[in-house]
Amino acid sequence: MPDAALTAGPFTTTESGPASYMVPAVLLSDTQSAVFAEGHHQFNEPWVVAPDPSGVWGLGPTFNEDRCSQCHERNGRARAPRERELAVRGMLIRLSVPGLSAEGGPLPHPVYGDQLQNRGMAGAVPAEGQAIFAYGEREMRFADGEVVRLRVPRVTFMQLAFGALGDQTLTSPRIAPAMVGLGLLEAVPEATLLDIARRQETDGISGRPNVVWDVERRAAVIGRFGWKANQPTLRQQVAAAFHGDIGATTLLFPHENCPVAQKACRELPAAIQCSGLGACKGDAFVPEVIPSRLDNITFYVRALAVPARRRVDDPQVREGERLFTQGKCAACHVPVLETGPVEGLSATGITIRPYTDLLLHDMGEALADHRPDFLADGREWRTPPLWGIGLLRTVNGHTDLLHDGRARNVVEAILWHGGEAEASREMFRAMRKAERDALVRFVESL
Ligand code: HEC
Ligand code: HEC
Repeated sequence: MPDAALTAGPFTTTESGPASYMVPAVLLSDTQSAVFAEGHHQFNEPWVVAPDPSGVWGLGPTFNEDRCSQCHERNGRARAPRERELAVRGMLIRLSVPGLSAEGGPLPHPVYGDQLQNRGMAGAVPAEGQAIFAYGEREMRFADGEVVRLRVPRVTFMQLAFGALGDQTLTSPRIAPAMVGLGLLEAVPEATLLDIARRQETDGISGRPNVVWDVERRAAVIGRFGWKANQPTLRQQVAAAFHGDIGATTLLFPHENCPVAQKACRELPAAIQCSGLGACKGDAFVPEVIPSRLDNITFYVRALAVPARRRVDDPQVREGERLFTQGKCAACHVPVLETGPVEGLSATGITIRPYTDLLLHDMGEALADHRPDFLADGREWRTPPLWGIGLLRTVNGHTDLLHDGRARNVVEAILWHGGEAEASREMFRAMRKAERDALVRFVESL
C-alpha cells in the first residue's frame, strides 16, 4: 500500500464497503479479538425496562435510544432531521443555563438537565419533550458566479412535559459522529496537541485544547471527544453515552439521570437505591452497566480500524491535496500525527493521518451555538477528523456534515467555515470550478 493510503499503520483496513467502519485493527490477539467481538455485540444490543427478557435491563427512566448502534449505525454518522422532522436516531439536543457546574462544565437546566431526553417509560415516566427541525436558506456565491443555497437549521421544542425551557436556556444540537480510529486519537500525546496550538498562534489560526473534568482521575485534563472535545477518554465518553442517551448507570455515573423536578423519574425504584430491578448484591451498588460491559465496549471502540485512502495517485486528487495545503485547511485538519502508546493494545508510535488537531477553533457566528462547554465558548468547535469521510455515503447512505448535519456535502461544509477558518473559506470561494472539484475529490479520497 502506498504510504499516503496507509491512514493508521496496523489500524488501517482496505475494506471500503458498508462495513468499512466496523473492522478491528489487525494486531489483536485471540483474547483481544474475543473482547472485540463481545463489545461489538454489546454495542448493538438493545436495552429494556426490567423484567422484559428481550434485552439488557436498565433502560431509562428517560432516554433517547435503546442502544448505541441506533445512533451510530454501522459505527457511522447519523443524518440530520429533514424539514419538519423530529430529532431522533442520532440527533440530540444538549441543554444548559448560564453558569458553571462544580467541575467547570455546563450548568444543567434545573428542570430538564443537560440533554433533552425525548423518550420515557409508557404510563410511568414522561418523556421530557421533543425537538423539531425546520430550515431556512442562506445564499453563498463563488467568485465565478455559481450560487449555493445552504440550509440554516432552526430547532423548536414541543410537548415539553415540565413547561417552557425559559429564555435563559442554552441549546446545542449534535449529530452522532462516526467511530473510526478513536483509540489512536486517544493516544496522541498531550504534548503534541499543545505544540500544535503553540505553532498555530503565528498563523491567524489559534486553536486551543478544551480542558474538561475526568471523573475517574478526579482532575481537569485535555478533552478530545465530542464536537466540542468535552470528553477526555473513550471510557468516560462511553459511560456518558450510557447515562445520557440510554439512561443506564455506570460506576462513573452512578445516579439515574433524573433532575430534582422530575418526580416520576426520581421515584422509580432504581439500582442506586438497592431496591429491586435485580441490580443490588447485598448492600453493594451494582451499576446497570456492569464493569465488564463498559470495558468491552470501550475496547471495541478503541480497537476500530480506519479505512485506507483510495485513489491517492489520481492526478485530480493530488491537485486537490495541494490545494488543501495551499488553502490552509491543513493548519487545523493536520494531516499527520504520531501516537504514543494505545491503551490496552501493544501498539505505540503509530503514524496516523487523521486530518485533525483535536483543538477548538472559533468558527464564526454562523456556526455558533452560543453554549459554552468547559473551555469551549459558544463559537468554538473541535476540528473533526476527516479520515473515513469519503465512505460516509457507502456506510450511511447520506453525506450530512458538521456538528448538526446541516451541510449536505463537502462543498456546503466548507462554505459554512468562518471565524479562524474564514480565510480558508474565502480561498475556496475564489477557486475556479476545476480547483474546487479537485479539493472536494481529495477530501472524498480520505
Ligand atoms: C441518542 C443517540 C446516541 C446514542 C444512543 C449513543 N450515541 Fe454516541 N454520540 C452521539 C452524539 C450526538 C455524539 C456527539 C456528542 C457531542 O458532541 O456532544 C456522540 C459521540 C460519541 C463518541 C465520540 C466520538 C468522537 O468522534 O468524538 C463515542 C465514542 C460514542 N458516541 C460512543 C457511543 C457508545 C459506545 C454508545 C452506546 C453506549 C453511544 N455512543 C450511544 C449520539 C448517540
Ligand atoms: C480554523 C480551523 C479550520 C480550518 C482552517 C478549516 N477547517 Fe474544516 N473544520 C473545522 C472545524 C472546527 C469543523 C467543525 C465545525 C462544525 O461542526 O460546526 C470543520 C469541519 C469540516 C468538515 C466537515 C467534517 C465533519 O466531520 O462534519 C470538512 C469536510 C472540512 N472541515 C473541510 C475543510 C477544508 C477543505 C478546509 C480548507 C478549505 C477546512 N476545512 C479548513 C476547522 C477548520
